[in-house]
Amino acid sequence: MAVPLMDLTRQYQSLKSDIDAAVQRVFEHSRFILGPEVADFENAVAQKLGAKQAVGVASGSDALILGLHAVGVGPQDEVVVPAFSFFASAGSVSRLWAKPVFCDIRPDDYNMDPEGLEKAITPKTKAIMPVHLYGQLADMEPIKKTADAHNIPIVEDAAQAIGATHKGTVAGRWGHAGCFSFFPTKNLGAAGDGGMVISDHEDVADRVRLLRTHGARPKYFHKLIGFNSRLDALQAALLGVKLAHLDSWTERRRALADVYDRELKGVGDLILPKRNADGYHIFHQYTLATEKRDAMRDHLKSKGIGIEVYYPVPLHLQECYADLGGKPGDLPVAEKAAQTVFSIPIFPDMTESEQAEVIDAVKSFFA
Ligand SMILES: Cc1ncc(COP(=O)(O)O)c(C=O)c1O
Repeated sequence: MAVPLMDLTRQYQSLKSDIDAAVQRVFEHSRFILGPEVADFENAVAQKLGAKQAVGVASGSDALILGLHAVGVGPQDEVVVPAFSFFASAGSVSRLWAKPVFCDIRPDDYNMDPEGLEKAITPKTKAIMPVHLYGQLADMEPIKKTADAHNIPIVEDAAQAIGATHKGTVAGRWGHAGCFSFFPTKNLGAAGDGGMVISDHEDVADRVRLLRTHGARPKYFHKLIGFNSRLDALQAALLGVKLAHLDSWTERRRALADVYDRELKGVGDLILPKRNADGYHIFHQYTLATEKRDAMRDHLKSKGIGIEVYYPVPLHLQECYADLGGKPGDLPVAEKAAQTVFSIPIFPDMTESEQAEVIDAVKSFFA
């Protein structure tokens, strides 16, 4: 049996009547840009995450760009970014004509190494961007300590971590701005692109609000040179329906992760995902590592099992960043992760028999 990495059609089928009704309501009033569903969804997310403000934007990438811009990042500034992440973590910095300064990650949870962060800070550092990769928070206490000691704002890339916590504080609320993605395959996914910035800092949230509508307030009077980056009312309506299910979906993901942990422990040279103490991992991905990663990828593909490598090239070695001078060996932990990690299917509607199939396929690689 083939097992997809993810199957969104099942989610739609299970919520079809609610989603269809929500979409229809938007067409009835046809206020597609910043219609009432956007503020409703912003309020719902703010309340759920305990944030003072939430501002819907067009994508997770834009959430990062607007969040960084709102804390003052601009040309010539530096932002410290872990070298192992989705490209947008770095691209957002470059889009503001600022410079990403890459730091290494920790080998156990693949997140920003607090010591690497300390080494990467210079007098030009204008922001720090921890990424909560795969649904688990970076080690935020030492990161925040360093940020506070240098008086540098944190902009969290929480694109993969909605609802995850560390020491009781939710992803996105450790810094000045927390940035989320509603890319369709995220734990809370839209029917297209969408994103959000949350903040407890009224001035930061207000700036993001201004920036998303070309910096205009009131309309046609431009205080700032902004962007066109709104969360669509249609997406907000759909996301509002899905938000009510997020907690149970997360619990289902965690239960699937428990089964993988139990069944794959001690198999071959597999390294299973670490769950940090005092954390709540939302398992956006279930990501393992093996020295024979590429062969494992071929093996699983040949058996029809969904597999993906997040991410095969660390950011400091991306072609577009050649001018920054990154070389192999600079950030060894990120480089090793890029060569060894792979992610297997984990989604709330996955069946037990599908999971058993994935487990068998992984085990058979080492048989
Ligand atoms: C870690 C990370 N940062 C940023 C993004 C960008 O989000 P989006 O695709 O919504 O622009 C994503 C998701 O794709 C992501 O996984």
